Amino acid sequence: MSRPFLAILGSGKGSNFEAIYRAIQQEKLKAEIKLVISDVADAGILQKAEQFHVPHFFIQAEKFEKKTIALLQKLQVDLVILAGFMRILSPNFLAQFPNRILNIHPSLLPQFPGKEAWEKAWKSGKKETGCTVHVVAEKVDQGEILAQERVIILPHDTPESLHQRIQQQEHQLYSEVIQAYWEQINR
Ligand code: GRF
Repeated sequence: MSRPFLAILGSGKGSNFEAIYRAIQQEKLKAEIKLVISDVADAGILQKAEQFHVPHFFIQAEKFEKKTIALLQKLQVDLVILAGFMRILSPNFLAQFPNRILNIHPSLLPQFPGKEAWEKAWKSGKKETGCTVHVVAEKVDQGEILAQERVIILPHDTPESLHQRIQQQEHQLYSEVIQAYWEQINR
């Protein structure tokens, strides 16, 4: 089986990128990260990419999609991995990579779509939440669900402590799902 070329898109600190990078180093995920792209100039994800010697680019909002599509096509990227990426991609962008864009979301979708999902879960009084890896579709947080991991909401949790435990699950889950999804679509 071939190893997919990955592009990682993120706007934040990049802990999911780091987990994917380490899973590849450990041969748990058989893939190659071709580049990291961020729409935030000083995002932690770009600093991590620099540290790991992964090609990385900051692309401004106005030119984001045009430049990104050109780069991904040039580098023959197979899968686009959204990891804390805060922009909504247009139907035109999605059409360039049909069923090839994955996202991770910090709740058990369809519960708590949108921003700060861990805080919404914490405020809801529910006993559990979690994370979801899904295929990206036009409607935000609504594409096909590939996998979910549960996280218990503890009585002494704060939104921050809950988010931290959700992220621990994310770091495990995302690489496993990328590997399984690539095998599934190449069967
Ligand atoms: C994660 O919690 C992810 O579920 C959400 O954004 C956060 C990104 O964190 N989409 P990081 O930048 O990977 O640390």
